[in-house]
Amino acid sequence: MSANATFSEPWTGTLTQLEWPSTPRLVLLTLINFPILAVILNVLWQLIPRSKSQPPLVWHWIPFLGSAAAYGRDPIVFFRNCREKYGNCFTFILLGKRVTVTLGTRGNDYVLGGKHTQLAAEDVYSALTTPVFGKDVVYDCPNEKLMEQKKFVKVSLTIDKFRAYVGMIEEEIKGYLDTDSSFRVYQMDDINEWGSFPVLKAFSEMTILTASRTLQGREIRERLTKDYAQVYHDLDHGFTPLHWMIPGLPLPSYRKRDAAHAKMSSFYQSIIRRRREHPEEAHEDDVIASLMKQRYRDGTPLRDHEIAHIMIALLMAGQHTSSSSLAWTMLHLADRPDIQEALYAEQVKHFGTPDGGLRDITYDEIRDLKVLDAVVRETLRLHPPIHSIMRMAHEDIPVPATLAAPSEDITYVVPKGDIVMASPIVSQLDPTVWEDSERWEPLRWYDEKGFAAQAHKQYNEGEKVDFGFGLVSKGTVSPYLPFGAGRHRCIGEQFAYLQISTVICALVRRLELKVEGDFPKSDYSSMMVQPMPVNIMYRRRKFE
Ligand code: HEM
Repeated sequence: MSANATFSEPWTGTLTQLEWPSTPRLVLLTLINFPILAVILNVLWQLIPRSKSQPPLVWHWIPFLGSAAAYGRDPIVFFRNCREKYGNCFTFILLGKRVTVTLGTRGNDYVLGGKHTQLAAEDVYSALTTPVFGKDVVYDCPNEKLMEQKKFVKVSLTIDKFRAYVGMIEEEIKGYLDTDSSFRVYQMDDINEWGSFPVLKAFSEMTILTASRTLQGREIRERLTKDYAQVYHDLDHGFTPLHWMIPGLPLPSYRKRDAAHAKMSSFYQSIIRRRREHPEEAHEDDVIASLMKQRYRDGTPLRDHEIAHIMIALLMAGQHTSSSSLAWTMLHLADRPDIQEALYAEQVKHFGTPDGGLRDITYDEIRDLKVLDAVVRETLRLHPPIHSIMRMAHEDIPVPATLAAPSEDITYVVPKGDIVMASPIVSQLDPTVWEDSERWEPLRWYDEKGFAAQAHKQYNEGEKVDFGFGLVSKGTVSPYLPFGAGRHRCIGEQFAYLQISTVICALVRRLELKVEGDFPKSDYSSMMVQPMPVNIMYRRRKFE
């Protein structure tokens, strides 16, 4: 069409006279219009009536991205909004993937208690974990092998070991307070002056120090102050939602992650080799030593790289979970002087000495500290570090009507290939289940007949099954599931409780705390929910 033609003038030319856009213009036009076209097609696609047995699809404007922004910003608010609109079962698009969420206690049970042949964890998690943990362990091996590996680790988490760990953890914390620059005011021995420390940094460092001293073993603890810290940092920065959702990007963080994994793996393997080659040399009876003695059911021992990679997996599985739990606990204590003082009074009652001091904490006594126990349980109710638990559907799986159904005679079916997601935190914060559900209130756990204690009992004492690593609750319908349930249930629970409890005792004995500024909101941008950066103010206690 001529450039001068207007809409009022009838077009009289022939087809051959049409001015087709040049190739660059065509490309440009397509590029400009493609997003608009994609949005329109996406909207139309959502308007097409769908089979009633498909869970409702969360409305979204932008294809591929789907609801990624809303989910990533605040998954709990996103889930609650969706639940209001669509009920307990709905599907949303997350970076091109279909994710079907099942909420509530029945929803937790559906995902955590699902059969492995139907719902597989490794298909979802492996892209994130294998480059970090390494080959042939956890989600880079058949599920039966993971169950055996979990059993091998559990063998080394014995009560005798825990008894020894308590003293080691307290010593590490004491050493940290005595040397870290954030605790300069504590080191000055002045009981009147307040200092302040950055929460995330302090608890991340305390966690890695205490885990290395205990689970990881002496060789790792000795390396912590040197190159290992940088290697850990690079590995950790490759353990993010981006690395999970878009594997293999040509970015420095991916390259650094791979180099860090290679270094760490060969470091652990060199420890193992040395121990094999020099059996006469003394070394600790630690997790590495225990793994070196284990055999798979078919009689084969673990290969060196498998032991190394299990150790890396333990390091990563325990680091953010424990450090975020510690950070939240100490923040709530800093915010609630009444509970802080109740904890301190409990310390004095159990460990007080005639001269007004406090003797060392012991494992057996720590288990009797009711206030401490309630404080940890309540923190894990309000702030379980893992907000979404995922599996891949290997076949079409019907959703029980007790969880959600479009009508009496129709059942929802989760189609093969969907990611299925549970979010136990939604039940742990459900106001219809928990009184004053958003409030951090350890007192709710004191009444043994009260709802919270009963929920915990149900969690621990529900139907049990052995998936190959000891008896665990079988996908329970409990509203309290901070350590998961079923075959993928956490094996680090006892260690984490011990680690967190001992660190709390060690700090509360020595410091009074208060939050500097406003109480922080949750940060969902990393793999685990942690508080936004904030400082805690501290003052040395009069008597330790
Ligand atoms: C699994 C939570 C500490 C090792 C899990 C799961 C949860 C969880 C919810 C289940 C994940 C799923 O079903 O997909 C926590 C919390 C912790 C903690 C809240 C601390 C407060 C630890 C520690 C270790 C550890 C210290 C290591 C010593 C593991 C392992 C699994 C696991 C090996 C099994 C993964 C599987 O079978 O797929 N944890 N964890 N965790 N956790 Fe923990």
